[in-house]
Amino acid sequence: MSPEPAAELIDLVGAERDRAVPVLLDSFEGIYRWHAKRTLREAGEVRAAVVEGEVVAVSMLERFVPEVGYVYYLAVAARRRRLGLGRRLLDDALARFERAGVEVVYAAAEEENTASLELFRSRGFRPVERKELGYKEGGLGAWGLRSRMRVVGGEVLMGKRIAPHPEKATAPA
Ligand SMILES: CC(C)(COP(=O)(O)OP(=O)(O)OC[C@H]1O[C@@H](n2cnc3c(N)ncnc32)[C@H](O)[C@@H]1OP(=O)(O)O)[C@@H](O)C(=O)NCCC(=O)NCCS
Repeated sequence: MSPEPAAELIDLVGAERDRAVPVLLDSFEGIYRWHAKRTLREAGEVRAAVVEGEVVAVSMLERFVPEVGYVYYLAVAARRRRLGLGRRLLDDALARFERAGVEVVYAAAEEENTASLELFRSRGFRPVERKELGYKEGGLGAWGLRSRMRVVGGEVLMGKRIAPHPEKATAPA
């Protein structure tokens, strides 16, 4: 399908965030729906793709510590999928995190959520192992942050380093 040329990306602030609720109802069920709606109110930053005044896709972004960004939720209205909107919102999130000085970005998705996992993979994210070197040491291990990310069983934590680790960047060759 052709890309979605008309979508405008905007910030959703305060009560405006309710405009994204229909996308969440379209995208999540059960406990995830409840949690996504709650996160919509609480997330540090909410970005939306708007077409003809309607919110058709949304991303919820958080920074737990200055060097770590988290894509809490990314959702596109069912009839607007595979048009590039998810990727546009992900690129937007990565650019914003980069400008803000974030070093590592994480996102979680259910193991069977192929669309989401493939989207993150297509932008260089990879699964994070439970025992790997932590992000503070130059790896992607999310030490101390998994519970704040609320990663639960059956989900894959994906990570991507977007800025070199400070010590590794300055270490002599
Ligand atoms: C995951 C989601 C946000 C993707 O949004 P989207 O706008 O359809 O994705 P895009 O069109 O930008 O696709 C970008 C890439 O993601 C991957 N992708 C997207 N949908 C896919 C699918 N159904 N199957 C396999 N790969 C898929 C592809 O690599 C795709 O690139 P390509 O089109 O060049 O092959 C969307 O499917 C969605 O809202 N799902 C429900 C909510 C959800 O599960 N969110 C993630 C958990 S927070």
